[in-house]
Amino acid sequence: MLSDFERYPLTFGPTPIERLGRLTDHLGGKVELFAKREDCNSGLALGGNKLRKLEYIVPDAIASGADTLVSIGGVQSNHTRLVAAVAAKIGMKCHVIQESWVPHEDAVYDRVGNILLSRIMGAQVSLVDEGFDIGIRDSWVKALDEVKAKGGIPYAIPAGASVHKFGGLGYAGFAEEVRQQEEALGYAFDYVVVCTVTGSTHAGMVAGFALQGRQRNVIGIDASCTPAQTHAQVLQIAQNTSALIGGPEIVADDIVIKEDYAYPVYGVPSQETLEAIRLCARLEGMITDPVYEGKSMQGLIDLVKKGYFPEGARVLYAHLGGAPAINGYSYTFRNG
Ligand SMILES: Cc1ncc(COP(=O)(O)O)c(C=O)c1O
Repeated sequence: MLSDFERYPLTFGPTPIERLGRLTDHLGGKVELFAKREDCNSGLALGGNKLRKLEYIVPDAIASGADTLVSIGGVQSNHTRLVAAVAAKIGMKCHVIQESWVPHEDAVYDRVGNILLSRIMGAQVSLVDEGFDIGIRDSWVKALDEVKAKGGIPYAIPAGASVHKFGGLGYAGFAEEVRQQEEALGYAFDYVVVCTVTGSTHAGMVAGFALQGRQRNVIGIDASCTPAQTHAQVLQIAQNTSALIGGPEIVADDIVIKEDYAYPVYGVPSQETLEAIRLCARLEGMITDPVYEGKSMQGLIDLVKKGYFPEGARVLYAHLGGAPAINGYSYTFRNG
């Protein structure tokens, strides 16, 4: 059971669910849209989905006797920002590798947003010229060796905290939280829409909702643009997480991923992604980013328009955070 695992609180508690009334009306009113605001989940460095995952990883890091958290991501990684925040909060050092995952040019890309916050929080930030890959990277292994060579004790947290043995537990908890909120609201959500890249957010939800028999109503929107690799990683993490919490067996068909919105590549928004970001901002005042949530917002809007959800359905969009990265897209949005 999930409650068998130690949890180090990093979040405020259950995240709010907000009705997206103007977006619902704009899209015809036949499908009712809501957002679960994971982006507002904590006071730590602007919050986001990684904190739910890290709540189950921190106890293991502390028990290991480590003094330095070591992790990896792109230049504008939300994940490394939150690892830096957690290291500060629990009194550890932090070394983060930031790779050139995104072929995007903006004069201040490596100085604003997430990376700026990580530097302010005292993390050692190393920029490495390597391309996008959600797997285990050489640069990260090297960083672990470097910490050891200096006499430190590193604790390794993989990209997105995903392939960590406890990476899926946080979002398994999300499913139970939604169930309790539904009870209080007096109605249930028919679908959950979630952005997926390194996979443990989606995978944790699949494992958690599988306990309620509704894992196939979790609709992953791929933002990696390498969907086969993401699908395989989500499946593996969901299976591992379900086994940890005593859930049912998870099979490939339990992992629903829509692949049509990640183009042209990871981290680069299409015109349609930018339109979705603007629409959501102008109707709801809700900010989504060009790397992750803008793509899942585009997917949500398109699926509603296409009639993918039956009339009368209630759809819960999981807003996973990521707004700080928008600062790295200042030129893209120079005219709004
Ligand atoms: C804001 C945001 N949304 C979505 C994701 C995707 O989550 P995951 O990597 O667990 O698939 C991430 C991290 O990669 C993120 O930072």
